[in-house]
Amino acid sequence: MKKKVFLTRTLHDFALKELKKKYQIEIHSGQIPIPQTKLRSKIKDIDGLICFPYDNISKEIIEEGKNLKVISTYSVGFDHIDTEYAKKKKIRVGYTPEVLTDATADMAFSLLLDIARRTTEGDRTIRDGKWKEIYGAFDYVGVDLQGKTIGILGLGRIGSTLAKRAKAFDMKIIYHNRKHVAKSKEESLGAKYVSFEKLITESDFLSIHVPHTKETDRLFNMKIFKKMKKSSFLINTSRGKVVNEKDLAMALKKRIIAGAGLDVFENEPIKKNHPLVKLSNIVLAPHIGSSTKETRIKMSEITVKNLNLGINGKKPTYSVGY
Ligand code: DGY
Repeated sequence: MKKKVFLTRTLHDFALKELKKKYQIEIHSGQIPIPQTKLRSKIKDIDGLICFPYDNISKEIIEEGKNLKVISTYSVGFDHIDTEYAKKKKIRVGYTPEVLTDATADMAFSLLLDIARRTTEGDRTIRDGKWKEIYGAFDYVGVDLQGKTIGILGLGRIGSTLAKRAKAFDMKIIYHNRKHVAKSKEESLGAKYVSFEKLITESDFLSIHVPHTKETDRLFNMKIFKKMKKSSFLINTSRGKVVNEKDLAMALKKRIIAGAGLDVFENEPIKKNHPLVKLSNIVLAPHIGSSTKETRIKMSEITVKNLNLGINGKKPTYSVGY
C-alpha cells in the first residue's frame, strides 16, 4: 500500500509526478486557505502533509494526525506550524530556506528603491491621468540611496544578502541581531552591529528580517515610529504581524516617518479599504518575496525532498528542530 500524502495547494507538474510515483496523493481544491474542518478530517490517515504559509497547522490539527510523519511547508517561514508540538510528537518539519534568499532580498531592495524614487506613485499618477507638471525642480522628488544608512533587523540569510545589495549602492550598513555575526562576515558586508535603539534612530531605511514570535509581535508600533527619523522609510518582507499596521498608517499619514514598502501584512490579503491602501507614501506588494519562476521551482524541489526524507523517518534536508 502506498503511503498517503495530502497537499493543501498544488505544486509544479514535475513535483506532482514524483509524488504520484511514490505515494497516493490528494490535493485540496476550493477555498484557500483550506478550512480547518477539512484539514482536520484529511490529516487523520495521512503519512505526509505539504502545506503553505496561510495554513494553520495548530496543535489540534497535528493531534489528529495519528500516522503523520512529516509536515513539509512550501516556505521559509514556519510560524503557521506548531513546531514545538510536532517535535514532541516526533513529526518532522521541513521548510525551504536558502533557495529563496536572493529573491526575497531582491524584493526588499525593490521596495526600497521604489519608495525612495516614488516609482509606483509615478505609475499611478500617469494611469490616473494626473501627470500635469513636467520636469520641475520639485516634481516627484525622491531621495538618493548613496551615503544613506540602511538598518537591517536580523542579519541572517536574507538580511545579509540585502546588505550585499545595499553595499553595491554605496549605502552605510548597520544591523541589529540577538547576537553579533562573525567579524569576518561583518567585514565582508561592511556591516556594523548597533543596539536596537541605535538601529531605529539612525536608519534612513529600516528593513525587517526577523520571524514573527511573541517577542517580535507588533514590535514596530507608534512608540518606535516616533523614535525613527522623520525622513526614514520602513521596509518589511518578513511577517506582517511584526508591524502594528494601524500605528503605521497613522505614522505615514502624519509624516512621523516618510514612507514604507510592505510585502507582508497583519491579515492577508489586505483589504481595499484598509487605511494603508489609501496612502500615497507606501508601496504595497502581495506577499511575493520568493515569487520568481526559478525560486518557486526550487521551492517545489525542496518541499518534495523534505517530504521524502521525513516520511521515511529521516531528517529533512532543511529541518526545523528535529
Ligand atoms: C516564506 O517562504 O515564508 C515567504 O514568506 C514566502 O514568500
